[in-house]
Amino acid sequence: MNSFELNKIMGALLFTCLSLLSLNIAAGAIFAPHKPEKPGYDIAVQEKAAPGQAAPAAVAVPIGTLLASSDVKRGETAAKKCIACHTFEKGGPNRVGPNLYGVVGEARGEGRGFNFSAAMKAKKGAWTLDDLNHFIMSPKGFVPGTAMGFAGIGKDSERADILAYLNSLADSPKPLPK
Ligand code: HEC
Repeated sequence: MNSFELNKIMGALLFTCLSLLSLNIAAGAIFAPHKPEKPGYDIAVQEKAAPGQAAPAAVAVPIGTLLASSDVKRGETAAKKCIACHTFEKGGPNRVGPNLYGVVGEARGEGRGFNFSAAMKAKKGAWTLDDLNHFIMSPKGFVPGTAMGFAGIGKDSERADILAYLNSLADSPKPLPK
């Protein structure tokens, strides 16, 4: 192999490399990926509070009127919102919140071996349906500093159903106030 032949081979190699390189650059220019300004996908989700989750202001309807058209069965269904933290059956365990069997008429902040917040203990008194109405409407409104991390149920009919359900959770449930 003389040096002339070697030159030809090297030249051919160099040419191939250069062609590949320019092809690469050209392809890169043509198929350049368009990066989104913001990584990720845009998913259209309506930012709307779930029903009953909007922080309600104040109880307007008197308890008797509220309970007049309440329904225990509907209340049991509505109370599914609470079962992440509460059990309702007699002798049920405490979870994040206390078991709620027999809560109507019971002293606030004690009983069932639950470690209530200082705010709840300080509230004292016993749970009337009226109090529960205010508390379930706005837990932090009725007991500022309560450990119950729940926005409250603003819908009157739904709250009334839950109150009727809570009232039914007793060995001998008292009639609902008129
Ligand atoms: C995120 C958890 C959570 C959810 C959801 C929740 N609670 Fe509670 N609840 C608590 C905690 C914690 C306490 C104890 C509050 C304290 O000690 O301040 C409590 C306390 C209570 C009490 C007072 C009990 C007592 O013996 O004094 C009632 C009544 C109550 N909750 C009802 C409800 C109802 C009804 C719902 C559903 C509409 C609900 N809670 C949803 C956590 C929750």
